Amino acid sequence: MKNRLAQLIQKDGKALFLPIDHGYFQGPTHKLEKPGETIKPLLPYADAIMLTRGVLRNCVDPANTKPIILRVSGGTSVVGEDLANEGLITSITEIVRLNASAVSMSVFIGSKYEHQSLINLAKLVDKCEDYGVPVMAVTAVGKELEKRKARYLALCCRIAAELGARVVKTYYCPEKFDKVVEGCPVPVVIAGGPKVDSELEVFEFVYDGIQKGAIGVNLGRNIWQSEYPIAMIRAIRAVIHENCTPKEAHDLFEQVKAGKA
Ligand code: R5P
Repeated sequence: MKNRLAQLIQKDGKALFLPIDHGYFQGPTHKLEKPGETIKPLLPYADAIMLTRGVLRNCVDPANTKPIILRVSGGTSVVGEDLANEGLITSITEIVRLNASAVSMSVFIGSKYEHQSLINLAKLVDKCEDYGVPVMAVTAVGKELEKRKARYLALCCRIAAELGARVVKTYYCPEKFDKVVEGCPVPVVIAGGPKVDSELEVFEFVYDGIQKGAIGVNLGRNIWQSEYPIAMIRAIRAVIHENCTPKEAHDLFEQVKAGKA
């Protein structure tokens, strides 16, 4: 367990996870039509990649040594009835066989499927703990993005940790994000959400989240949907691992974009 966690969370206590699992419920997402191609130039700057077994098997070179966070919940789609109605989609044998450094599963607290998703999480933790595989819980909101407020997120993170998650991924919120982190006894990483309007905005929320106690990010669309994904990931990495301010990160972004760094 400790060894796997150390693969994910770096010596400075921080982490940059790159998720490309979006296809598991929304199909060929923009800029992720060929996930293997999308991540190739970004891999050197990510501490781990998050994906499903199908993409791992078909789109990632088996010689890859970047730690894998395997998405193991699913069974719903954006055109289906309810995104919260997820189940476990990968066995523990497969998780171990694919040499995952961790697994991730969504919980949908406050939804019609709250109980089901929380029991799924608890059962997954039971299976994974036997094999020393950390579970990262994802506090999902489905299509209800307005739910992303401190009180709700704090509730979700705490419950996920109480049920045994070793890491929790949640949304950043501008107000009282410190309360979300403080109430959660395991490390918190920030999910990105839909692509925002400017690069600076991303650096600002990542910076603020880190100042308020998050250990890093699990950030997808704001990196690989950018016109300059390498500049984005390098700038975000600088905020996480080099304590850069949003302005310093933005300067680095501009330099990489201009081919000067
Ligand atoms: C949601 O759980 C997806 O699986 C993504 O991993 C997550 O939303 C992070 O990606 P993004 O930064 O694009 O929101």
